[in-house]
Amino acid sequence: SNEGCINCVLLFLWIFICLQIILIYKIFKYVKKVSSQPKPLTKESYECQQNLSVAKITGFDSFPPEIKNMFYYGHCRNFPVLLDLPDKCGGAEESADIFLLLVIKTSPPNYDRREVLRKTWAEERLYNGVWIRRIFIAGTAGDSFEEERWNELLKAEHEKYNDILQWDIKDSFVNLTLKQTLFLKWMERKCLHVHFLLNGDDDVFANTDNMVEYLQSLDNDGSKHLFTGFVMGGGPIRDSWSKYFVPVEMYPSNSYPLYCSGGGYLLSVYTALIIHKMSQTIDLIPIDDVYMGMCLTKANLKPTHHMGVMTLGWNIPSSKLDRYDPCFFRNVLLVHRFFSANMYVMWKRIHDPNLKCACLNTQEQNV
Ligand SMILES: *[C@@H]1O[C@H](CO)[C@@H](O)[C@H](O)[C@H]1NC(C)=O
Ligand SMILES: *[C@@H]1O[C@H](CO)[C@@H](O)[C@H](O)[C@H]1NC(C)=O
Repeated sequence: SNEGCINCVLLFLWIFICLQIILIYKIFKYVKKVSSQPKPLTKESYECQQNLSVAKITGFDSFPPEIKNMFYYGHCRNFPVLLDLPDKCGGAEESADIFLLLVIKTSPPNYDRREVLRKTWAEERLYNGVWIRRIFIAGTAGDSFEEERWNELLKAEHEKYNDILQWDIKDSFVNLTLKQTLFLKWMERKCLHVHFLLNGDDDVFANTDNMVEYLQSLDNDGSKHLFTGFVMGGGPIRDSWSKYFVPVEMYPSNSYPLYCSGGGYLLSVYTALIIHKMSQTIDLIPIDDVYMGMCLTKANLKPTHHMGVMTLGWNIPSSKLDRYDPCFFRNVLLVHRFFSANMYVMWKRIHDPNLKCACLNTQEQNV
């Protein structure tokens, strides 16, 4: 009948409206859930604005591109981590008690150097009852396909050795300071319970046995100031063709504070955290080791010289001796510009129990 049909249409209409209401409710709930989730940090979240007013600086146009870049973007201190080491220092429980953390500056193409260091002085091990651990700090290198390939290499190494911290910054001389500050920030968040750090290049020979013994001999467990290496001074180079060029507009004073050559220096975690704190209020300059000195000075701290650290090359006392004499290397702390190919044999030689070092016992003088 007609009435039945109208009822039937009304029923359908009723059911239809109910379904619509349910649907709208579900959509509303979904949108609410999605928008309340924390957003993953994308590259855009890190982007920071170019400082265009720097173009007004006198002589700005004549600066080399990397210095211009530093003026434009020097205030940008946040960059995404590409490879992280959340558990290197024990993770949330902070269980790993690391005595000496080796923080080695490397760039992606230096695969052979990293590989030999892992087998020699930077091997993660227990020495004299305390732990030595290793972290390579890296940025990116190359463009497009090349960059992808290097990133893949680091990722593969990371999966095998769990020893690479990588940020999305271009690895370049000028960017070393930025890399340093990124490391210190990472350390403050994820690795507070180490005692000492070796901060150095990937082309040095570091006698980590001697370093542990030296550090153990101090009246310092890492909770007091220590910053030691090859102390340097001097002042900024104002010639724009130089690798070390720093314009007056970036660093007005004509002398640098005392600092340790960046080839390698030892510091306590106490001092590392102070440097981190100071760095937040000091503009970056393109020379990373000087910058560390600036941070120390601001905190009224000084670096100390250690005779065992030879970052400007080394001299063997006699021409009758091999330049790579193991007795010499057994007694140093650190020597800069040491080629990978010599590293493996040297490390074996200095640990040879039959090694006789007659008249070259420089242990007392050097260490
Ligand atoms: C931008 O550059 C000007 C000129 O050097 C400087 O005074 C200002 O502090 C800079 N701003 C930022 C955010 O770094
Ligand atoms: C430093 O790194 C930033 C971030 O990747 C990059 O934009 C800049 O060009 C780098 N500077 C140099 C001199 O390579």
